[in-house]
Amino acid sequence: MKKIIASNFKTNHTRKSTKEFIDEVNNYLLESDIDNDVLIFPASSSFDTFETKENLTIGAQNAYHAKNGSYTGELGTIHLDEFGIKTILIGHSERRHILGESQKDVALKYNYYKALGYKIVYCFGEPLEVKQAGLTETLGYIWEQFDGIDLNYDNLILAYEPVWAIGTGVSATTEDIATIHKKIKKKIDKPLLYGGSVKVCTLQDILEVPNVDGVLVGTASWIVDDFKKMIYIANKMDANSKQIKCNIEGEK
Ligand code: PGA
Repeated sequence: MKKIIASNFKTNHTRKSTKEFIDEVNNYLLESDIDNDVLIFPASSSFDTFETKENLTIGAQNAYHAKNGSYTGELGTIHLDEFGIKTILIGHSERRHILGESQKDVALKYNYYKALGYKIVYCFGEPLEVKQAGLTETLGYIWEQFDGIDLNYDNLILAYEPVWAIGTGVSATTEDIATIHKKIKKKIDKPLLYGGSVKVCTLQDILEVPNVDGVLVGTASWIVDDFKKMIYIANKMDANSKQIKCNIEGEK
């Protein structure tokens, strides 16, 4: 199976720089003939009708579980439909832990977008204190994040993103990833991404871990040249691609 490479812009990039980024990635995919699935989740103010190659999908980082209505500050599906967006991130740790979405909120959103047939990238992962409590606690915490979630849904991609690894520069080790991914895959037969401080120079090692079908990348994906390198590495996965160096400061 081809590896999936996803970039979560979070609260970064403007409308102008998003367009430049997407155009550049699209041109790269056209020129290089790479057919891995690539997903980009820009800020909603940057949505547009982007003309992209079949394997480059633009998704929403979030939207409300309604077509439209009185939900100040939220997007409804009319706003996604306007740009043909049919892919959404649900359950991201920043929405759970910073913006206060409960498992009930997350499940409501999941079921709404499932009924509409959206491709859902469903995120889950444990905070540091749970990891420190041990594997049984970690798995218990993770299974609770599947409450109310139909795991047989066809158009589902899972993303294991330990909270302590997101945006911290400290990725989970390949051993940690291998352990958790094996447990998840045993129960749920869906594409399973890893996310949390993935960098250009750690990407290939992570993609080589059994049961890792791709990555969801924040910080290290926001520079287009680095994101293109990630796409290249995921496509090649050979000795030469393994030698590709990071060029972001601190990514040594
Ligand atoms: P990060 O973010 O790569 O900056 O850790 C990953 C994510 O939140 O999806």
